[in-house]
Amino acid sequence: MIIEPRIRGFICLTSHPQGCEQNVINQINYIKSKKAIDGGPVKVLVIGASTGFGLASRITSAFGSDASTVGVYFEKPPAPGKPGSAGWYNTAAFEKQAHEAGLYAKSINGDAFSDEIKAKTIALIKKDLGQVDLVVYSLASPRRTHPKTGVAHNSVIKPIGEVFTNKTVDFHTGVVSEISINPATEEEIANTVEVMGGEDWGMWIDEMKAANVLANGVLTVAYSYIGPALTEKVYRKGTIGRAKDHLEATAFEINDKLKDIDGKALISVNKALVTQASSAIPVIPLYISLLYKVMKEEGIHEGCIEQIQRLFEQRLYNGGTIPTDEKGRVRIDDWEMRPDVQAKVDELWKEADTEALASIGDLAGYRSDFMNLFGFEVPGVTYGIEVDEMVQVSGLV
Ligand code: NAI
Ligand code: NA
Repeated sequence: MIIEPRIRGFICLTSHPQGCEQNVINQINYIKSKKAIDGGPVKVLVIGASTGFGLASRITSAFGSDASTVGVYFEKPPAPGKPGSAGWYNTAAFEKQAHEAGLYAKSINGDAFSDEIKAKTIALIKKDLGQVDLVVYSLASPRRTHPKTGVAHNSVIKPIGEVFTNKTVDFHTGVVSEISINPATEEEIANTVEVMGGEDWGMWIDEMKAANVLANGVLTVAYSYIGPALTEKVYRKGTIGRAKDHLEATAFEINDKLKDIDGKALISVNKALVTQASSAIPVIPLYISLLYKVMKEEGIHEGCIEQIQRLFEQRLYNGGTIPTDEKGRVRIDDWEMRPDVQAKVDELWKEADTEALASIGDLAGYRSDFMNLFGFEVPGVTYGIEVDEMVQVSGLV
């Protein structure tokens, strides 16, 4: 079929298999262009492995230190005349490359929050790998059905305590407008923590430890975000921030539970990037388009793969102590948070309106990153021609 983008708000309903494949190949080539990560992970489970930071973690593990990888994700397979989701095609491409390189790579497509998918994943690890030495937790989801209560929780992105009013941009049209978001109720806060907090990460580690599939010295890492004062009312001090506080607190609990096997649980605070998860958050796309402009000018812009490569090489597997901040978190958002970078973004923020944004912001970069998420506008890919939408994931269990 000929696959064209069909955009609805902050999602794209279609994905392009060749574009997704090229994105994955580009990420693999980036990792291959760097030196091998000495002492890097060997057997890895990535939960949320099909897009964004999780996919980059899987690629960095496999092509940075020849790791065997198991990926868990929730993606839509293709049907005749209906393309699969981008994460499906990304995984198909990743596994094709991994298998050609002689690397073990298998995946499980299903709800990571469920007992069933945890059990299936653990059984696969037991059978094929025995144990894993790295568990990356990189889920981003708007809902979670609690495996014990059966209750379906929905997360919201809202401020807490008071109405938040600020600028936002429709990144398709470039129109900057003011948005007001009403504060969350206590119930909405609790639901957001249920979905994006640390309980599920803790469940994964508990169940994996009980099944003896965590190697001695295992490392587990989950991803968080902080960001600047500009966005904190809607992000870090809002509902999602409460969930991240919970996730970060969970790291300490898991860490204690792993002591007897010399294991470690860590949070990595990553940079703001265009992903399917972040484009749904108001105000953030405007912030990102200004941030991209400043960071590209400074020559310090990074995408998911550059972030995770630096995380592995310079933080997690640097051969010495892992540097952390005063709250025990690994910081790979250091360049985003540099005072000179934030001062420039603050200045641009004041000027940002529909007219100015085209020149002071990197809206074009935002848009092309967004299109690229779904395999569109990827350099070197020919669009508008027949492609096979029925691409399969070779390592799917
Ligand atoms: P993403 O949307 O690109 O990836 C989410 C992944 O979770 C996908 O692999 C998806 O298939 C999987 N997933 C979602 N629901 C699932 C379910 N029920 N069962 C199994 N798999 C499921 O998101 P992104 O941006 O890579 O986010 C990953 C983590 O990084 C999140 O914790 C996010 O808060 C964090 N982060 C994101 C930043 C950003 O700017 N995008 C910045 C810093 C941290
Ligand atoms: Na991810």
